Amino acid sequence: MSAPPDTVLQVSTEEAAAIREAVLTADLATLGPGRGLAGPQDASDLTDFLADPRVTDAIYDLPRPFTLANVARWIAESEALRREGRRLLILTRDEQGVIAGYSCVSVWPDRSAAELAGALRADRQSGGQGGAGALHTFGWIFDTLGVRLMCLTAAIDNIRSAKLIDAAGFVRMGTRDAVRPDGTTRVSLYWEVTREQWRTRWG
Ligand SMILES: CC(C)(COP(=O)(O)OP(=O)(O)OC[C@H]1O[C@@H](n2cnc3c(N)ncnc32)[C@H](O)[C@@H]1OP(=O)(O)O)[C@@H](O)C(=O)NCCC(=O)NCCS
Repeated sequence: MSAPPDTVLQVSTEEAAAIREAVLTADLATLGPGRGLAGPQDASDLTDFLADPRVTDAIYDLPRPFTLANVARWIAESEALRREGRRLLILTRDEQGVIAGYSCVSVWPDRSAAELAGALRADRQSGGQGGAGALHTFGWIFDTLGVRLMCLTAAIDNIRSAKLIDAAGFVRMGTRDAVRPDGTTRVSLYWEVTREQWRTRWG
């Protein structure tokens, strides 16, 4: 499951509370068009979306196997964590209302930290949308949620992710064993970036 950054920041109870509140009140319209929190009504569409291995093969912390029940449970768990200020499971729907991507923001308010995972529908991949969208989302996480640190992982052979994460200015910090929901591990590339580093680069 997603794990907080290796770097540990000192965080006051006030800062942690502000981050929790920011997660609870986040306006997803500021993230981009078509964004919405995943809810029970999305379970069937999300199950279909996740069924494409081009979308999900590279991602370790999804509710496999992708049955309606498992996906519905993941949505419910995400909503419960959102209420604690710890997760945002966000879907992007296209003009036709079809799911075009998802983002899962894990937040550790008492560590002032967040992690992003996500995927685009196959027909939207490799055209620059992921790079642009991820850049916007990283900035949004720092500005809107107020965390001071982000971490990311990617499969060792996920060239597109590695390129876009390096280009965003995240700092490579070796590898980490990412733990799948079934308890098995996957060796992943690991990056971190602080809010200061982010703002120095992107303003
Ligand atoms: C990862 C993902 C979000 C990237 O979005 P994308 O729109 O496909 O990627 P982009 O087109 O923005 O390209 C990102 C980088 O990879 C490069 N790239 C694109 N397609 C590529 C390919 N087939 N082979 C190698 N490099 C490729 C781009 O040139 C770009 O690098 P650059 O900035 O140096 O030019 C998207 O591919 C995806 O959803 N993949 C499946 C799920 C996944 O891997 N999620 C991430 C888990 S960490």
